[in-house]
Amino acid sequence: MKVTLTAIKADIGSVGGHIRPSNRVLETVENHLRQHHQGILIDYRVSYTGDDIAILCTHTRGVGDSKIHELAWNAFKAGTEVAKDQGLYGAGQDLLKDAFSGNIRGLGPAVAEMEFEERTAEPFLFFAADKTDPGAYNLPLYLAFADPMFCSGLILSPGMFKGFRFVIMDVSHTDADRVIELNAPEDLYDIAALLRDPERFVIEAIYSRETGEQAVAVSTTRLHNIAGKYVGKDDPIMIVRVQGSFPATGEVLAPFHLGHYVAGFMRGSHSGPLMPVRQNTTTSFFDGPPIVSCAAYCVHEGRLTAPVDAFDHPFWDYVREKISEKAIEIRRQGFFGNAMLPFSELEYGGIVKKLEELDKRFVTR
Ligand code: F6R
Ligand code: MG
Ligand code: MG
Repeated sequence: MKVTLTAIKADIGSVGGHIRPSNRVLETVENHLRQHHQGILIDYRVSYTGDDIAILCTHTRGVGDSKIHELAWNAFKAGTEVAKDQGLYGAGQDLLKDAFSGNIRGLGPAVAEMEFEERTAEPFLFFAADKTDPGAYNLPLYLAFADPMFCSGLILSPGMFKGFRFVIMDVSHTDADRVIELNAPEDLYDIAALLRDPERFVIEAIYSRETGEQAVAVSTTRLHNIAGKYVGKDDPIMIVRVQGSFPATGEVLAPFHLGHYVAGFMRGSHSGPLMPVRQNTTTSFFDGPPIVSCAAYCVHEGRLTAPVDAFDHPFWDYVREKISEKAIEIRRQGFFGNAMLPFSELEYGGIVKKLEELDKRFVTR
């Protein structure tokens, strides 16, 4: 059976700062879906990571379907009403436009979706990150899909010997999507040359070169491209199909032990290590650290199993301690050098005004 997985997430308000949505808001989003999904969705799950609510759903309407997007938009709108009623912070923050206009892309919420013919067994992973941006997935995806040091399947599993095709988007363009397709392993150095700049070049999708099947879909929204100013980080979501001719679950998870430094953290303006956490985790230290959750599922005829929390394991407790050390270490450096993002990433925030004022006071000697 051909099924579509659609994941849509938004920050529509949170308790006590940008920490987590309230139970009432979560219930409202879930109730809206329960009441309106008949005839549209086969199945759905609602979760949160930091201050972002994610709707993961299955259906047969293909990607970019207006009915599916509208349902999610209306669920977030209903949640926003409750967030306002409770006086939550940042109520409706990611709903940047007033009205739904056919597709939720470009309206604020992040979208990752893909359509495929279900395998007999169809395991996949759903990642959701907070206090960071879509480029955060560049390194772990590169390591899981192109580096045999992390993905042993590239040398051990014949279904992966041909490698993978990477679709990479230049997210600096606001008017149209600019993408390039590159093949691993032949184009490895070109892929690396782009992915090293995660604020500009972002993996959008990855395909198996053995079967042509899509393995990965990442949300590529950059909120400031839509709003023209800083309105919170983009907090990306991602769907990854695993096993068989795709990397194994553990091969996709392995690179996350690095806790690599990503853009985000406090005010979306700093570098911080990406910490793998359980689903439904809040943010805390310095409005962070940047976090990523991973729910593992199987889907059959569009019906989802209950999620298994992939980062809920003693191994990841040890990793989280190590990553906390990395977070503290870079925070000791405050705003200096690499601890804060370069000006190009801050130009949508308040520092622009300050520098404009100071510029007037410069004298030429
Ligand atoms: C980062 C984030 C927070 C806020 C910070 C200030 O993505 O959401 O770090 O930027 O708490 O929030 P405001 O400007 O809303 O007071
Ligand atoms: Mg927020
Ligand atoms: Mg967020």
